[in-house]
Amino acid sequence: MLRLQKIALLQFKNYTNYEVHFDRQVVGICGANGVGKTSLLDAIYYLCFTKSYFSRTDQQAVQSGSQGFRIEGRMELNQHIAELTCIIRENGKKEFLVDGSLYERMSAHIGKFPVVMIAPDDAVLITGESKERRSFIDQVLAQIDPAYLQSLIRYNRLLQERNALLKEAALAASFDASLLDVLDEQLSVQGQFIYEARKEFLSSFLIEVENQYAAIAADEHSSQSEWVKIDYQSHLATQSMKQALQESRSADFSAQRTTRGIHRDELYFTLLQQPFRQVASQGQRKSLLFALKLAQVNVIKEMMGFSPLLMLDDVFEKLDEKRIMNLLTKVCADSKSQIFITDTSAERLEKQLAKLGVSFQLVSL
Ligand SMILES: Nc1ncnc2c1ncn2[C@@H]1O[C@H](COP(=O)(O)OP(=O)(O)O)[C@@H](O)[C@H]1O
Ligand SMILES: [Mg+2]
Repeated sequence: MLRLQKIALLQFKNYTNYEVHFDRQVVGICGANGVGKTSLLDAIYYLCFTKSYFSRTDQQAVQSGSQGFRIEGRMELNQHIAELTCIIRENGKKEFLVDGSLYERMSAHIGKFPVVMIAPDDAVLITGESKERRSFIDQVLAQIDPAYLQSLIRYNRLLQERNALLKEAALAASFDASLLDVLDEQLSVQGQFIYEARKEFLSSFLIEVENQYAAIAADEHSSQSEWVKIDYQSHLATQSMKQALQESRSADFSAQRTTRGIHRDELYFTLLQQPFRQVASQGQRKSLLFALKLAQVNVIKEMMGFSPLLMLDDVFEKLDEKRIMNLLTKVCADSKSQIFITDTSAERLEKQLAKLGVSFQLVSL
């Protein structure tokens, strides 16, 4: 079982100095707009992912007018206590410590204390560009497979290098062709590995998402015909990464970027054989979003043997009560996740959480 028992913040966003203890499975966080509900969730997210869910850079999370921040958290994992510290130093350098020992690489921490976030803007996962869905897959896999994350980091670095070289080739009279061969070789290894990992993982994960969606739709008395189907699409389905790079080389020179590879993968959702994005109602989109997140909770539980923290930010505002309560009931009953949920209305939050029949605490900010 994974529980966050305590968090202390110094110069983090709107928190100059703040500490709060959590002693329940369900934690409701309430307060008016701007009091720091989302920021508190983000601090928890930092402890799990070593970075922000909402801000692009660490500096954006440093309290304005200050230099550096500090987040301390106490996690309980299967009766073992871990003290986590995330520090941005005055010079902007980031340090992450577990029980006083420093990580050499931040990525080594990811997956140790898994978390799943549901935020109102997550609708882009369904309606946005394909990169949203890739980054979702990456986020899920990164927390359960350290080798995947390392490979992805290498791939992205190599891809940047290759794209820079293609740009250079377009501008300069000559360029280093042997370097391109080397990059292609290395990119092929990482790309192929990532493809195989995604394919293997998604073969069962997508069925889980489809089933979760069907269960949610059934709760809503929808007919079977509304079941969603999801396909994993990749250039690598029909050729190796190596072949893809070879074949696209001349196209890549004119585009000045790498046009094929796993950085173009897509998850394609359909409903009644039509593109989900075009035919799904608002409600169906929300159901699919929850199905993806629930499947993520379940796969982490299955792979790790314990459930991730689950955070829901302002979901009562933009999503609907019935769906959220169905989701929370499932998570409380099946996965025993610790849940953090924010709302502007203390009354609404208390009323809903009381329905769950598990012990909860309310934190008023
Ligand atoms: N780096 C920062 N320094 C100081 N204040 C910040 C920083 N980032 C965000 N804030 C402020 O923190 C407050 C709380 O924001 P937020 O956590 O989003 O509130 P809530 O979710 O409760 O509406 C906001 O007023 C926001 O402007
Ligand atoms: Mg907020």
